[in-house]
Amino acid sequence: MQKRPLGTTGLTISAPGLGCMGMSEFYGPTEDTASLATLSAALDIGYDFLDTADTYGLGHNEELLGTFLKHRRDGIVLATKFGIVRDAAGSRRIDNTPAYVAAACDASLKRLRIETIDLYYCHRRNPETPLEETIGAMAKLVAAGKVRALGLSEVSPATLRAAHALHPIAAVQSEYSLWSREPEDGMLETCAELGVTFVAYSPLGRGFLTGAIDPEALSEGDFRKGNPRFQGPALAQNRRLADTLGTFATARGVTAAQVALAWLVTKAPNVVPIPGARRATRLAENAAGVDLALSTGDVAELDTLFARDAVAGARYAAGGTAGIEVI
Ligand SMILES: NC(=O)c1ccc[n+]([C@@H]2O[C@H](COP(=O)([O-])OP(=O)(O)OC[C@H]3O[C@@H](n4cnc5c(N)ncnc54)[C@H](OP(=O)(O)O)[C@@H]3O)[C@@H](O)[C@H]2O)c1
Repeated sequence: MQKRPLGTTGLTISAPGLGCMGMSEFYGPTEDTASLATLSAALDIGYDFLDTADTYGLGHNEELLGTFLKHRRDGIVLATKFGIVRDAAGSRRIDNTPAYVAAACDASLKRLRIETIDLYYCHRRNPETPLEETIGAMAKLVAAGKVRALGLSEVSPATLRAAHALHPIAAVQSEYSLWSREPEDGMLETCAELGVTFVAYSPLGRGFLTGAIDPEALSEGDFRKGNPRFQGPALAQNRRLADTLGTFATARGVTAAQVALAWLVTKAPNVVPIPGARRATRLAENAAGVDLALSTGDVAELDTLFARDAVAGARYAAGGTAGIEVI
C-alpha cells in the first residue's frame, strides 16, 4: 500500500484511502455488519485513511465508524467534516459559524467515540461567515487537542490561500476524476505550492467509470438517480466514454476502476483518491489501481477521451451546489 504525507503534519496516509459515505447513504441499501467487515478488511490490507462526515446518514456513518474505532483506533487517520446541516425532513443549509463549528466537533467526537479527529474539514463554505471566524474556530479545536489537522472541501484556490495564511491547511478535498476535472484549474498547483494534500473524492465517478453500475437499475432513493450525468441523453453520451475506458483497461489487462485511479495519481504526486466501497471485494482492486503505471501516452489518450466537452451533464443537480466554490 502506498503512503503519502498529509500536508506538512508529519502524518502519513494510505493511497488510496477509503470513502465510507456509501456505508450509510446515497448509493443504495446498506448493511452495518457488511460495512464493519469491509472496514476490517481495508485495514488488514493497509488502508489507514478513513473518510466520513457528520452529515452522512445524518450521523449514522460516524456512529458506524465509532463502533469500529472503539476496537481498532491505532494507526488510523480519521477524517470527518462539518458544515452541511440536514434533517430527516430534507432541509439543508451550510453553517460555518464559530458556535456551530465547536458544537459540531463535540458531536462528531461523541459519535466517533474518539478523543481527537485527525483531519477536520469544513465540508462547504458559507461566505456569510467571514473565513477568519471559521478558521479561527477550527484552530481553537486544534489548540484544545480535539483536532489534529485542518482541511477544506470544494473551495477555490483563493479561499485555500486565504485560509492557509490563517492556519496551516493539511488537505483540500474536492471531486476529481476523469469526468470531473475542475481541480486542474489551479487547485492542484496551489496545493503543490503550499504543501497541501489534495484528496480526490468520487474518484470513480460515483461508480459510473467502473462500468459496473447500471444507472437505469439504481434503487429508489439512490442519489445518482437525480444526478444530471446519470440520466437521459447525457447518460447515453457518458456511457460511450465509460465503454471506451473499459476497452482501454481490458487491453492492458486491468479494470476500468484501476485505470481511473492510476490516472489520478499520475496527474499529480500529491493526489490521494478515496474510492468509496461498501464491499470488501473492491479494496484490493482499488489499491492496485494506485500502483498501476500509466505511460505519458496513456495519460494523454485519457485526457483527450475525457475532455471537458466530451462529458455530458453537470456534476451536481442545481439544488446540490450550495457552498461549492468551483462548479
Ligand atoms: N467532500 C465531499 O463533498 C464529498 C462528496 C462525495 C463523497 N465524498 C467522500 O468521498 C468518498 C468517495 O466518493 P464516492 O463514494 O462518491 O466515490 P466513488 O469511489 O467514485 O464511487 C463509489 C461507488 O463505486 C463503487 N465501486 C468502488 N470500487 C469499485 C470497483 N473496483 N469496481 C466497481 N465498482 C466500485 C462502489 O460500490 P459499493 O459501494 O457497492 O462497493 C460505489 O457504488 C465518499 O465515500 C465520501 O467519503 C466527499
